[in-house]
Amino acid sequence: MRTTGSVTEVRELIAEARRAGSRVGVVPTMGALHRGHTSLIEAAVAGCDLVVVTLFVNGPQFNDPDDFLRYPRRLQDDLDTCRGKGVDVVFAPDEQTIYPPGGQTTVDVGHLGTLFEGQHRPGHFQGVATVVVKMLNITTPDTAFFGQKDFQQQLVIRQLCQDLHLPIDIVTCPTIRDDDGLALSSRNVLLAPEQRVIATSLSRVLRHAREQWQNGFNDLPALRQQLREQLESTPGLELDYATIVDANTLEETTADSDPLVALVAASVGNIRLIDNLLLNATSETA
Ligand code: PAF
Repeated sequence: MRTTGSVTEVRELIAEARRAGSRVGVVPTMGALHRGHTSLIEAAVAGCDLVVVTLFVNGPQFNDPDDFLRYPRRLQDDLDTCRGKGVDVVFAPDEQTIYPPGGQTTVDVGHLGTLFEGQHRPGHFQGVATVVVKMLNITTPDTAFFGQKDFQQQLVIRQLCQDLHLPIDIVTCPTIRDDDGLALSSRNVLLAPEQRVIATSLSRVLRHAREQWQNGFNDLPALRQQLREQLESTPGLELDYATIVDANTLEETTADSDPLVALVAASVGNIRLIDNLLLNATSETA
């Protein structure tokens, strides 16, 4: 495995692989790798000849400076994980490399980026879109892998690839959960044991909503209200939003459109968590 923080070097490694006819896959991450990330890496290793993992904690996508400071950073562990999973190249640039002084251009994702996470975390998707375009331009992959856990993010990235004519297949991999249902997230390690118990209510109410939907309770406004009320009445949980939307547009449809996704976001203490479940699917698969 080669590890570099240099744009020139990572480009050379990828160009060399391309000359040999390799299909290139990239897994963009902010490090603190867990089983959610390794499932993306496994999908990349299975489908591509050269797998690049990017490790970069991207300041501009954190609307809360404390969240940025608290974000776990474990470079050595991450490199060991990548090595163990058969990653070929790790691109771990520093701040100056990705944001050289004097840089001015950002990527504005439009309407999709203003909903839900965009509304509660102003500037978040501009930060995500800008760094993802940078990473995709640096690594020029055939395929890029993202998790369904960040449902809105993967839609925003699909949209920006379409809008900016980036010829990259976006693969969305299923959310990975712990046995108690909690969707894996790098922030989970920051939860105290009693906070973790509260956090599991997110996946519980999502599963309940899906069960009801699949059992024929198709009154969407009532189902949305139920989802919201269940989370609002959970002690220790501060709800940002809970809703059911069209999974392609994120609009609160009243029609029985397919596919539908239930989206939730809430804080437990100062840890913000998001989760989602496709109502029409029986597994996590997007
Ligand atoms: O999902 C993440 O970890 C980040 O938002 C991403 C896509 C790596 C951009 O910084």
